[in-house]
Amino acid sequence: MTGLNAATRPAEARVGHRLSPAGGVEITGADLARAVPESLIALLHRALLDHHVVVVRDQALTKEQQHDFTRRFGELEDHVARHSDARYGIVHSVTNLDRDGNPSETLEIRGNYFWHTDKSYHAVPSLMTLLHAVELPPEGGDTQFANMVLAYRALPQAMKARLAGLRAVHSWEASRRQSGSSPATEEEKRERPPVAHPIVRTHPETGEPALYIGNHAGAIEGMGEAEGQALLGELLAHATQPQFVYTHNWRSGDLVMWDNRALLHRALANYAMARHRRVLHRTVVRGTVPY
Ligand code: SIN
Repeated sequence: MTGLNAATRPAEARVGHRLSPAGGVEITGADLARAVPESLIALLHRALLDHHVVVVRDQALTKEQQHDFTRRFGELEDHVARHSDARYGIVHSVTNLDRDGNPSETLEIRGNYFWHTDKSYHAVPSLMTLLHAVELPPEGGDTQFANMVLAYRALPQAMKARLAGLRAVHSWEASRRQSGSSPATEEEKRERPPVAHPIVRTHPETGEPALYIGNHAGAIEGMGEAEGQALLGELLAHATQPQFVYTHNWRSGDLVMWDNRALLHRALANYAMARHRRVLHRTVVRGTVPY
């Protein structure tokens, strides 16, 4: 660092303490709006594998900067809802705003409020999602993460044996139905046909087994509808118990990155949605076929 004074020297990123027994870690001192060195990308990647949720504090990223930062981790995914910004098409806004830009509690898309893992209704689902806080309510508006590695580990041996080789059927249609959103259209059903994924997936980087379930899963291959839904419901109730959950209370400037291969997540409607704006910018990195 010789030749740089304190004002121009890039801040040193620090990895803080684990935010909860279920996961999450805080990174301070990073400035992702600058050219991000490979060493910081490696540090964030390691933190993601170790803690599943990485909270980078005090960022102020434009959509372009968020796009470029996300790109360092892989290929960006488009968003199914196609609400994206025209210039940076794959930086999507997650908001509680209505068509006139006013806060609203009547949400068109309700799926985010149910436990899910991103795009599990695709044959190649998401690896990582990044949300950057742009406008936050004065309190609440949290996001919860449930650790599917810990949840799988805690299952009784008999249940682990029962799940071995089972595949859940994930679909956009089931997701819309189970979240009480407006039903999937025929065109959407054609574009996003159901896909089956193992109920226990192996994390491709750590080798750890994790439950792969959530609100997009509506059935189990080879099982009757009622039996399949009962088992998925039982697993979801087990996997989202408080000891497996980290609740993120957003702070202004947070950029939160999470590993969809190891977590379920959901937004909480625990704020005055009709009064306060909640706007976050979202980017998603494409993953690999679950096995
Ligand atoms: C999401 O489900 O991707 C968004 C979560 C949130 O709005 O907190």
